[in-house]
Amino acid sequence: MARHPPPERNVVPPAAELVVVANRLPVDRGEDDSSWRRSPGGLVTALEPVVQRTGGAWVGWAGQPDLEVEPFDFDGVHLVPVTLSTDDVAQYYEGFSNDTIWPLYHDVIAAPTYHRAWWDAYVRVNRRFAEAAAAAAGEGATVWVHDYQLQLVPRMLREMRPDLVIGYFHHIPFPAYGIYSQLPWRSQVLEGLLGADVIGFQRVADAGNFARAVRRRFGYDTRAGAITVPTGDGGQRTAIAKAYPISIDTASYEELAQRPEIQARAAEIRAELGNPDTVLLGVDRLDYTKGIRHRLKAVGELFDDGRLGTGDATLVQVASPSRERVAAYVQLRDEIELAVGRINGDHDTIGFTAVRYLHHSYPREEMVALYLAADVMLVTALRDGMNLVAKEYVASRVDGRGVLVLSEFAGAADELTQALRVNPHDIEGLKDAVMTAVSMPVEEQRRRMRALRRRVRDNDVSAWSARFLGDLRAVRGGDA
Ligand code: G6P
Repeated sequence: MARHPPPERNVVPPAAELVVVANRLPVDRGEDDSSWRRSPGGLVTALEPVVQRTGGAWVGWAGQPDLEVEPFDFDGVHLVPVTLSTDDVAQYYEGFSNDTIWPLYHDVIAAPTYHRAWWDAYVRVNRRFAEAAAAAAGEGATVWVHDYQLQLVPRMLREMRPDLVIGYFHHIPFPAYGIYSQLPWRSQVLEGLLGADVIGFQRVADAGNFARAVRRRFGYDTRAGAITVPTGDGGQRTAIAKAYPISIDTASYEELAQRPEIQARAAEIRAELGNPDTVLLGVDRLDYTKGIRHRLKAVGELFDDGRLGTGDATLVQVASPSRERVAAYVQLRDEIELAVGRINGDHDTIGFTAVRYLHHSYPREEMVALYLAADVMLVTALRDGMNLVAKEYVASRVDGRGVLVLSEFAGAADELTQALRVNPHDIEGLKDAVMTAVSMPVEEQRRRMRALRRRVRDNDVSAWSARFLGDLRAVRGGDA
């Protein structure tokens, strides 16, 4: 990973042609360390080359409270850090973004909290991001805003800079109106989003929910995803609401999976697990949307019932730490660790572990080795915008083997139709699907994996960003 010295001051203010605005910058640095590293993650891989090509800018938070850093250049991208105070982190990030919008938009799996002070912070911080983007963008530039933390930015930006072409991509689900309408600020958020020329969603259903919410609240015409928005001066403009399913950098996963040292590491992982017949794998941020408890319940019962034999099968569960100061996440961690302890207490022997639980995140090389080591990948999300882990597993299976068990509530289910589809709330159905996966003949594994791999190759992340930016360009040219 590239390491850079602290940034130089007084970089000439740019007039970028393309500005990405996201809650996080594409770099971070350790608490005790002043050098910047490129953050791992799909969005960075996807957008960095496009931003580099255009000499563009990226506006975002450096991930630590009260950190004030001047804009600086990193790997050909002009980075514009937005400072969040300790209060902003508590109220805008942990509060409104992750304790109001996140649970509400994931179908209230956890109860959303509505606090007026959090909303005020959300407005204030969104304005700060919009101002930073407005200052970085050249005349007539394209600004691409990302995700639920910044839903007010498109409209704020349009008011500040009517010359800009504005895109917004929503990485998480957009709920049905019956749920969305709980939000005390439901009209302001829709108005915020409608400031964009193109509003992208993961699934066709999300785009439909958004258009219906706009129709219900404002009565605007929303035919075929083209929303007619009055401009206030008697005129009108069109905003497009459409699905653009996000993807991964498929080729880089394939390349890693072909490396002999990573294949050797996969074999070593199986050996370290005691060479069980079946390795089951779960990989998630530790989040209540991911259905980790449902997965543990199903696998625990399969051990209880003797359908999975002690010593024959192991579940490896990677749960990477996330949003650890939000109460619902603290509670979830306790529940999961209790469940793992119970299963292991009942089924472990001195030499064998039923569930190998890893509360860490790992570099991509180790993840690909884990994917290669796993016979069955369990993606049991209760609600998920896309779920890129499902796509990473498929991309890594260059050997054509392995079985993906995939929740119908993950966006990836729309594309990955050759996976074993499950409803994670149906524990009996989930148990049966796990057993079908465990005993699936190799020929069937190959047939399904071939179709899955084709899909992930055809729609990789550069195809995704090209589609979105192509539609934005069409807006500029007036032929959207
Ligand atoms: C989801 C969201 C992203 C977010 C990521 C990690 O994928 O869609 O916007 O960045 O989770 O969460 P964090 O709160 O650590 O940024």
